[in-house]
Amino acid sequence: MTTVVSGIRPTGYLHLGNYFGALRNFIKMQDENECYFFIADYHSLTTHPNNKDLKFNVKNVLIDYIAAGLDPEKATLYVQSAVPEVCELSLLLSMNAYVGELQRVPSFKEKVRRQPDNVNAGLLTYPVLMAADILLHRADKVPVGKDQEQHLELTRDFALRFNRLYKTEFFKLPVAYNFGNSLVKIPGLDGSTKMSKSDNEGSCIYLSDDPKTIQKKVMKAVSDSGPTEPHQEKPQPIENLFQLMSAVSSAETLQYFEEQYDSCQIRYGDMKKQLAADMIAFTAPIYERIQELRGNDDYLKKVMRDGADKARESARKTVKAVREIIGLD
Ligand code: TRP
Repeated sequence: MTTVVSGIRPTGYLHLGNYFGALRNFIKMQDENECYFFIADYHSLTTHPNNKDLKFNVKNVLIDYIAAGLDPEKATLYVQSAVPEVCELSLLLSMNAYVGELQRVPSFKEKVRRQPDNVNAGLLTYPVLMAADILLHRADKVPVGKDQEQHLELTRDFALRFNRLYKTEFFKLPVAYNFGNSLVKIPGLDGSTKMSKSDNEGSCIYLSDDPKTIQKKVMKAVSDSGPTEPHQEKPQPIENLFQLMSAVSSAETLQYFEEQYDSCQIRYGDMKKQLAADMIAFTAPIYERIQELRGNDDYLKKVMRDGADKARESARKTVKAVREIIGLD
């Protein structure tokens, strides 16, 4: 059985971009693989050491993931800090991670630029902790986007170094799980190419938005006065509306508006109304489950407890073996 591990940023409410990115693929993977998905709260401290919303964000990410279809009966879902074994593995891995190579990681340099007043050691060792997350369950595959490939490469480097140093084949070398073209890119409603909550709240449709909010946001989406020539190339904001439509609407609906556009008869008001209706229909079942889960703390706590128990069982085995290999037992 293939073991899959991935970390989720505790960002709070999830939007459609998150859904069509990692989330939807996690849901597909849980049936055929042994999956460990965790909320990376330790990692979040490297950039947000004192986040008063941390608990709230962890809870909402969890709710949204479960509501969207991640099944705690199939996948092991846990909060990173509930499995402190990862810290020991991280420490042990840090002994064969070189400061120079960590300093050269692009995401580290980027964070140094972004938060010059807080270049903490945790930022530098971020990839070591991430390697520990993955190696903790001896993962085969890690479903991550392009931005994490460098981190994954370091994970393999650390694992390989460990194996060589201690003349063992204990760690597998995990590879990226390739989503291929199943990744649907979700643009923002504000004309930006990527739905992102850091840019503009109004550009995002959250899975937990109620129908009225979705309607309002979609009707306010950026458009223009329409094409003047048949088969005109679409400007970005218009391309975005079509991309969103291709994610949530039927093929017929999409084709209808494509034709309207190509013949310069399109009315963006109509298109947005249709898009809003289809988005509402698409998110409705998730929205309903979110409402249910929000009132069910006992269930959420149980999911977290069970997830942590399962993850710790796997983690303890790994750490025990690593201790033996090193001679710390
Ligand atoms: N670095 C990942 C991100 O920013 C989150 C993460 C932490 C992760 N640990 C991981 C992803 C382990 C995959 C595996 O999105």
